[in-house]
Amino acid sequence: MIGRGRWLAIYMYFRPRDEDMTLFDTMNDADARHLTKGVVISASGVTKQFGSGTRALDGIDLDIADGDFVAVVGPSGCGKSTLLRMAAGLERPTDGSVALATDSVGFIFQEPTLLPWRSVRANVELCAEIGRLPRSERRARAQRAIDAVGLRGFEAQLPRMLSGGMKMRVSLARTLTSEPKVMLLDEPFGALDEMTRLDMQTELQRLYAERRFTGMFITHSVSEAVFLANRVIVMSARPGRIVADLQIDFPYPRDPDLRYDAHFVEYVAEITETLRGAR
Ligand SMILES: Nc1ncnc2c1ncn2[C@@H]1O[C@H](COP(=O)(O)OP(=O)(O)OP(=O)(O)O)[C@@H](O)[C@H]1O
Ligand SMILES: [Mg+2]
Repeated sequence: MIGRGRWLAIYMYFRPRDEDMTLFDTMNDADARHLTKGVVISASGVTKQFGSGTRALDGIDLDIADGDFVAVVGPSGCGKSTLLRMAAGLERPTDGSVALATDSVGFIFQEPTLLPWRSVRANVELCAEIGRLPRSERRARAQRAIDAVGLRGFEAQLPRMLSGGMKMRVSLARTLTSEPKVMLLDEPFGALDEMTRLDMQTELQRLYAERRFTGMFITHSVSEAVFLANRVIVMSARPGRIVADLQIDFPYPRDPDLRYDAHFVEYVAEITETLRGAR
């Protein structure tokens, strides 16, 4: 039996190299008691200046309500990942504060970060294993998550036998086993081909429609933002500021053909125009 410390060490070895963080580290000491009722993530007057002199964020005020799915779009380098890391409590603002009402948080990276020698099932069980859930509960949760992301029948396969989209599903399932109240996703589908990406969007919004977690989702794709979210935040170029905040009024679950709806196309056009002006 490999202990918790060893798994963390193994995970740290395989984590994305550009991420100075770990999935299991929460150092958010912001006082959640100050949060307005029904607000799960709250950023107030947030500014971030890195030691290198880069001013990444400037005066961000953002409240995310319980059960909302918020997509954040903005030019590259405008501080989206920095803001998401702050929401997870993995980065501190220079000025202002970020509070999170729960420590039940799942963070999904752009890369699936699977352990190559572990089967799909064993990878999905990893979070529950680190959380020291009993074996039978681990199994049951992993199977529910595997079914939820459509990977039944692939439990015994190794990551190298899977396509990119399937690996991303495993990553999603691994996070779902901890049944997080908040899901923070940093461009999780950025590396996928267009058709797989559309499938993953459908899958994720179906999961959201079922579970109603609170979501904060970073993306460069405007149509992905409109399809998934009930609210889209548009940020300016660095230092990032919020330049638009739109409600997306489509009920869930959403049909993939919604993307051809005239109203959907209008949302995409409006956000794209705002982004053009925000560079
Ligand atoms: N640890 C760090 N030290 C110094 N500068 C940093 C650090 N992390 C991020 N930055 C800088 O802060 C700015 C915002 O970075 P961030 O990763 O948040 O952008 P982003 O909006 O997520 O970009 P992208 O869309 O390309 O992922 C960038 O200029 C980046 O170089
Ligand atoms: Mg980023």
